[in-house]
Amino acid sequence: MKKSIKTLITLVAPFALVVSAHTAFAAGDVAKGEKDFKKCTACHSLEEGKKKIGPTLFKVMGRKSGTVEGFKYSSSYIEAGEKGLVWDNEQLTKYLEDPKGFLKDYLQVKKVKSKMLLKIKKLETRQNIVAYLESLQK
Ligand code: HEC
Repeated sequence: MKKSIKTLITLVAPFALVVSAHTAFAAGDVAKGEKDFKKCTACHSLEEGKKKIGPTLFKVMGRKSGTVEGFKYSSSYIEAGEKGLVWDNEQLTKYLEDPKGFLKDYLQVKKVKSKMLLKIKKLETRQNIVAYLESLQK
């Protein structure tokens, strides 16, 4: 019995590693991301200093949450930034799935404010958008 469990673990462990490495480093498709980014352009520009309903996403990768000057953020974005939230690949991919839920988790509170109501369920779409935003800063 013991031996069979051990065999099973030996067989499954490398597979699990491959799968988790794959999800952690899966790169999005920049060209698709550029198209998917149309979901964002009603509210976000990519030009420096140009705000729409939302803050500009000019150089958003590596930017601290809630820090575009002249944009009136909901307090939750500023608090998250003060707590150390920086928009990198991992955080932005999670955020886009459910902005409010993400901020609740990040701030460990039950209620947050967010004027961004869009949610993107599909992981691939989120990864593509993030890859596109990253490509603009290379
Ligand atoms: C209907 C409008 C709307 C759409 C569509 C939208 N957003 Fe937003 N987004 C906002 C608003 C408004 C905020 C600021 C939220 C607040 O202060 O409550 C925001 C905030 C953000 C932030 C945080 C910025 C910062 O400076 O901290 C990021 C990142 C972001 N949006 C990315 C995106 C991406 C990527 C898309 C497309 C997939 C998108 N948004 C679609 C309205 C929108």
